[in-house]
Amino acid sequence: MKIGIYGASTQSGKAFLADFLLKGYNVYGYARSSQRGLEFINEVNKNNGIMLERPDDIIGEKSQFIELKNSKVGNDLEKLIDYSDIIVISHPSHYVEETVTKLKEAGMVEKRIPLVLGCSRTLTPPYIWSILGMDYPVVCFSTLPYSSKSLSPGSVLIKRRKKNLVASLEGEFKDEDIDLIKQIFPQVLYNQIPASTSLGNIGAVFHVAPYVLNYEEIKEYERKGKAYSFYMQGIAEKSDVGKCIEAIDQTRLNIAYYLNLSVFGCSFSPREERWKEIMNKIRKAQLEENIDNIANLKTLKQDYLKEISTAVFSAQHWLDITYDVRRIEGESICSAIRRTPTYQKMSVPQKRYVEEDIPTGLVPLEALAKRFNINHDEITYIIDLYDEKFNVDSRAKGRNLEKFETEFLVKYLTGGLFKHAPI
Ligand SMILES: NC(=O)c1ccc[n+]([C@@H]2O[C@H](COP(=O)([O-])OP(=O)(O)OC[C@H]3O[C@@H](n4cnc5c(N)ncnc54)[C@H](OP(=O)(O)O)[C@@H]3O)[C@@H](O)[C@H]2O)c1
Repeated sequence: MKIGIYGASTQSGKAFLADFLLKGYNVYGYARSSQRGLEFINEVNKNNGIMLERPDDIIGEKSQFIELKNSKVGNDLEKLIDYSDIIVISHPSHYVEETVTKLKEAGMVEKRIPLVLGCSRTLTPPYIWSILGMDYPVVCFSTLPYSSKSLSPGSVLIKRRKKNLVASLEGEFKDEDIDLIKQIFPQVLYNQIPASTSLGNIGAVFHVAPYVLNYEEIKEYERKGKAYSFYMQGIAEKSDVGKCIEAIDQTRLNIAYYLNLSVFGCSFSPREERWKEIMNKIRKAQLEENIDNIANLKTLKQDYLKEISTAVFSAQHWLDITYDVRRIEGESICSAIRRTPTYQKMSVPQKRYVEEDIPTGLVPLEALAKRFNINHDEITYIIDLYDEKFNVDSRAKGRNLEKFETEFLVKYLTGGLFKHAPI
């Protein structure tokens, strides 16, 4: 099996590359001819491999150098297309249309190579289909499978590999494509409800409002050369920011509720009891069995996780399932973030929190809310504030959904566009 990576020099691309090589797959890692891309290609080719760093406190896995063996890295798009049975796109989502256009020009459509979006954000496939054709197979991860950082051109730090990952299969897939995808990513819960990942876009909820509302403070820290803790100082300690995040989250959940999808934590229908029941079952099973064991995980999936994997849930519920921050009914987002160990460590504000998450998150969420007559005041306020501050027009550049009919969007999000292949 041959895996292509478009964006092998990014923080996520290097993590995919290191893990694929570790598992013995043959890979072509494509990097752009940017300065960073070229430095990456030169360094990895010179060393004939990539250095995978792991945190010191991880038990059972040490940092190690991984050889390329039969794999290659380079900047030849035709080679990427010729080589790959599947292509993982691993860069911020607002570059996807540009990337897909280049892949089309290099002949990808004729080969119909399934695409995997390392982190898909909101409403990406409809924009891809307008370039590649309506049913092109696209796998959308709800979030990147890693927390990773680029330390030098020839190395990557994988801070964490995420469990309980969800991916939606969108478009028409051949059975062998699905088998291949499941083989490469066995830890993932697959479904065919695009809303589960599209409206499951937690980056849009967590990233934008704190970045925009705390912008002056963040810049002040930068000027003084001091570190700013994005989650602790920017959210946990700011109740006004927390309230804004919660309002944005409710717009997202109300859209899902309007579409008759399974929702947890929505103001109209919180369904806290059902959540508690499911989480208790998952925790009990995790205690009894080793969740890292794929066979056991499969049983768990079928029995308990399936219901959650096709649902859209609040930021607090997301912290529960993702970071084991047990849901306390009625708890504010500030308090839940304060209790999240990974956020207590330093987490620096990043430009992509607005440059990516506004055009691929808040803009399409606002557009959907408008179509369905759902309150979106806080989303509008944050986009307007950002546009004014930076003198841009996010709605003109972002996924404003103008080219799609409402009927199409509803059908798309609820999984009614394609016949469902067995997964
Ligand atoms: N890293 C994480 O821990 C993490 C965690 C959660 C979610 N995510 C999500 O995962 C996705 C990828 O994140 P990342 O950390 O890998 O991003 P990243 O490394 O911060 O992305 C920036 C890189 O994107 C590349 N790029 C710039 N312009 C481009 C263009 N026009 N076309 C294609 N690539 C371009 C550049 O790499 P070159 O100059 O080398 O080409 C640039 O250095 C994002 O959606 C992000 O939100 C990441």
